Amino acid sequence: MCLRASVGESERCKIASAPEAVFVGPMRRLDQLLANLGYCSRREARAWVEGGRVCVRGKPARDPGEKALPSEVTVDGAPLDHPEGVLLLLHKPLGLVCSHEVREGPSVYDLLPDRWRQRNPVITSIGRLDKDTSGLLLLTDQAPLVHRLTSPKHKVAKRYRAELDGPADPAWGELFAAGTLVLTGEKAPCAPATLRILSSTTVELTLTEGKYHQVRRMFAHFGRNVIALHRSHFGDLELTSLAPGQWRELPLTHFGPSAS
Ligand code: URA
Repeated sequence: MCLRASVGESERCKIASAPEAVFVGPMRRLDQLLANLGYCSRREARAWVEGGRVCVRGKPARDPGEKALPSEVTVDGAPLDHPEGVLLLLHKPLGLVCSHEVREGPSVYDLLPDRWRQRNPVITSIGRLDKDTSGLLLLTDQAPLVHRLTSPKHKVAKRYRAELDGPADPAWGELFAAGTLVLTGEKAPCAPATLRILSSTTVELTLTEGKYHQVRRMFAHFGRNVIALHRSHFGDLELTSLAPGQWRELPLTHFGPSAS
């Protein structure tokens, strides 16, 4: 038996027979649920319900204002599309921006299914890569995860491969590692970073923060331009076997059980 209990703003389903109250997920209005998951507008949801397209526990819903657990709802016979959220690992191609602003041009979000682009909360990138940077980009609709993984406090390592317009100097590595380099326009120094020189003009840089254009600015400090930039790693994740523009799903718990 399910007892509805009021918890803050959301309603959750308590399993009454459990020894302690167990919350198994928020109950949601059907019209709100369908709109937030990108199926249709709340107004359209009424027609979907009236048309018998929406079922709760296998029975056609009668009222778009009816509340249900997302896991109990089907549309046209299919379970709801990722009602619990999404976490994606994308191989960002060159030439796309990490922005929802249409006027900024083609965006990484254009690569996602239409329905996912209508979701609320929106799917957003965890940090950004420049238009001219390729590589590993995480996308999610879990705001606490975005905050956690972009906070310098958590020191998540991001590894970049950069092609420079001139030879790299091994002495730069000491300044990067010391955490004393102050970039133009900044007050705080960069956090300690690790430089590996792969060839005369090819380097690998590992950062634990994400200041604006940080990699390019760190090499600009030594008068070098970055002519190609690619992110290969984010935390324990690596870009393997994904072509540019392709993505794969990760479990929401990949970075731990709690998104906060
Ligand atoms: N540093 C940059 O300069 N650009 C990026 O896209 C990422 C890190």
